[in-house]
Amino acid sequence: MLFIVVHLLFVNQNTAMALVNNDAIPLIRKSCAVTRYPDTCVSVLEGDPCSRIAPDIKNLTRISMDIVYKEAIELKSLFIKARECVTDPVLKRNIDFCIREFETCSFNMKTYGIPRVENGDYEGAINEVFYCIDCSSNCTNAGTKLFNKEIETFFNFSTVAIDLSLSV
Ligand SMILES: *[C@@H]1O[C@H](CO)[C@@H](O)[C@H](O)[C@H]1NC(C)=O
Ligand SMILES: *[C@@H]1O[C@H](CO)[C@@H](O)[C@H](O)[C@H]1NC(C)=O
Ligand SMILES: *[C@@H]1O[C@H](CO)[C@@H](O)[C@H](O)[C@H]1NC(C)=O
Repeated sequence: MLFIVVHLLFVNQNTAMALVNNDAIPLIRKSCAVTRYPDTCVSVLEGDPCSRIAPDIKNLTRISMDIVYKEAIELKSLFIKARECVTDPVLKRNIDFCIREFETCSFNMKTYGIPRVENGDYEGAINEVFYCIDCSSNCTNAGTKLFNKEIETFFNFSTVAIDLSLSV
């Protein structure tokens, strides 16, 4: 008898906890927990209106690819604006290099990465994100010392997009 009561208590408690957890940990936090940069993942996705209403991990992954694309466009335009204020020819050349890297990255995301994730080809989409990570570290290595924080966020979030794709 005692056993049954204890058993019932245990089961009820587990059920109650599962419900509380589902309530308290929405999709973004649950999905971000498996990524390598959970803090970047949560802050970027919680700042995005589409991901706040994403119904499932598939949609969240698709949205994370959109964000990688948009961040690459944003970085490209930051370098284009900085270029207008630069006279040093070496710095100008290195900025041009970064503009080309983020241009290539955004072009590939739009042309291949996003369509692939839409078709469920996560492996193919991941390759395009890896390519973008290459572009961003090539830009950093070019030594402009510009927008390092933004590039780091881009790197962190691209890694997040890969990890989300792997978890679908
Ligand atoms: C998933 O996200 C995209 C934005 O990338 C949106 O257009 C689409 O409607 C969403 N799908 C669902 C099923 O909510
Ligand atoms: C990055 O630089 C390496 C070394 O120069 C080069 O082989 C590679 O193609 C570059 N990657 C991209 C994406 O531009
Ligand atoms: C990228 O992630 C690392 C490790 O979590 C963190 O220390 C760093 O601040 C992040 N960078 C940015 C710009 O968010």
